[in-house]
Amino acid sequence: MMSNLPEVQINLFKKSNPLKAKVLKNIKLTPEKGSAKRPVQEGETDIHRIILSVDHNVYPYIVGQSAGVIPPGDDPKKVEKGSADTAYTVRLYSIASPTFSFGQSKNTLEFIIKRDNIYDETGSLLHTGVCSNYICDLQEGEEVILTGPAGKKFLLPREDFTGDIYFLATGTGVAPFFGMTEELLEQKLIRFQGNLTLIYGAPYSDEIVLREYFQEMERKHNNFRFIEAVSREQKNSFDGGKMYISHRLREEGGKIPQALNNNGKFFICGGPKGMEKGIIEVLMDFAKTDLPYEEFKKDLEKKDQLLVETY
Ligand SMILES: Cc1cc2nc3c(=O)[nH]c(=O)nc-3n(C[C@H](O)[C@H](O)[C@H](O)COP(=O)(O)OP(=O)(O)OC[C@H]3O[C@@H](n4cnc5c(N)ncnc54)[C@H](O)[C@@H]3O)c2cc1C
Ligand SMILES: NC(=O)c1ccc[n+]([C@@H]2O[C@H](COP(=O)([O-])OP(=O)(O)OC[C@H]3O[C@@H](n4cnc5c(N)ncnc54)[C@H](OP(=O)(O)O)[C@@H]3O)[C@@H](O)[C@H]2O)c1
Repeated sequence: MMSNLPEVQINLFKKSNPLKAKVLKNIKLTPEKGSAKRPVQEGETDIHRIILSVDHNVYPYIVGQSAGVIPPGDDPKKVEKGSADTAYTVRLYSIASPTFSFGQSKNTLEFIIKRDNIYDETGSLLHTGVCSNYICDLQEGEEVILTGPAGKKFLLPREDFTGDIYFLATGTGVAPFFGMTEELLEQKLIRFQGNLTLIYGAPYSDEIVLREYFQEMERKHNNFRFIEAVSREQKNSFDGGKMYISHRLREEGGKIPQALNNNGKFFICGGPKGMEKGIIEVLMDFAKTDLPYEEFKKDLEKKDQLLVETY
């Protein structure tokens, strides 16, 4: 069965002709500093769910694509240099809502955004990320300037699919998988007959956001599993060190070759940049491949079985 998914379109809105979108809701997903598990000397984690009013006829995005945000004001570095254009550069954020929105209303676009701040060893703020803090501070009714949509590769299958799918996320890398899970399991825009597994890693257990949603999906759908890797609270059973999503994937054992050999897909999203390496090495072990790392990776990407968005 072919789906009625819209065409993949990119760069409909650019810095020179952006789209204005209104903030409908800004929901803080992490606990207040004083009640969080993270020790104060490690700074603060603050993650928000932002719901914007976006008409899909005007901005026809597909879950897995990203949207650009232009923070208001002038970039002091560009002003100092005497640049002709002193506006901030566009920051990309994964779209966290399904292709037709939660509720299929076709009129919202969502983000999951973390304040990207740097702290010193005592937990005092050293640097504040410009755009992430701007977005996390937005109030209901305020306007945001968007570009995009961007990206045409990190997408769900567009036709009926029987392979198994793994979503592997660290931190805000969970953003696209929120909308993708809803689209695959609840909205069923394509007929999906495989198993879906979300492996989601974060430093502390209260920094795993949207847990209730994913647990509810696990209760409702027997082909969905939700697995956490809490790096600073759990130890892995392989070397007793931090629990990373790569260790959780290794625990899957025989399910991995099963997925690889039956057209299954592995989506990897989040930071730190390069974290996909540990995951791909697990896949290589179970595939029993003789190919070197880069060739194995390229081959899986070419077959559309490996989709990586790390930042
Ligand atoms: C495809 C893609 C998808 C993404 N999706 C998401 C998403 O869904 N959610 C999300 O939260 N993020 C996402 N990001 C990251 C996002 O684009 C931004 O990079 C992030 O929000 C930081 O932008 P910023 O303007 O807040 O920080 P910037 O101001 O650009 O600063 C970047 C970092 O440098 C630090 N810094 C700034 N100045 C200094 C200095 N002088 N010395 C030391 N450190 C400094 C800041 O504190 C910050 O940590 C995505 C990125 C990509 C490429
Ligand atoms: N979200 C953002 O705003 C943003 C934007 C741009 C860049 N980044 C960068 O992305 C990184 C993480 O960002 P985040 O704050 O979104 O995530 P986060 O909440 O810190 O979660 C990342 C998780 O991945 C773990 N991890 C570290 N190295 C790994 C590896 N090689 N394989 C698997 N897991 C690994 C971390 O463990 P430990 O930390 O305990 O080792 C942590 O549990 C940082 O380097 C950050 O600078 C983030």
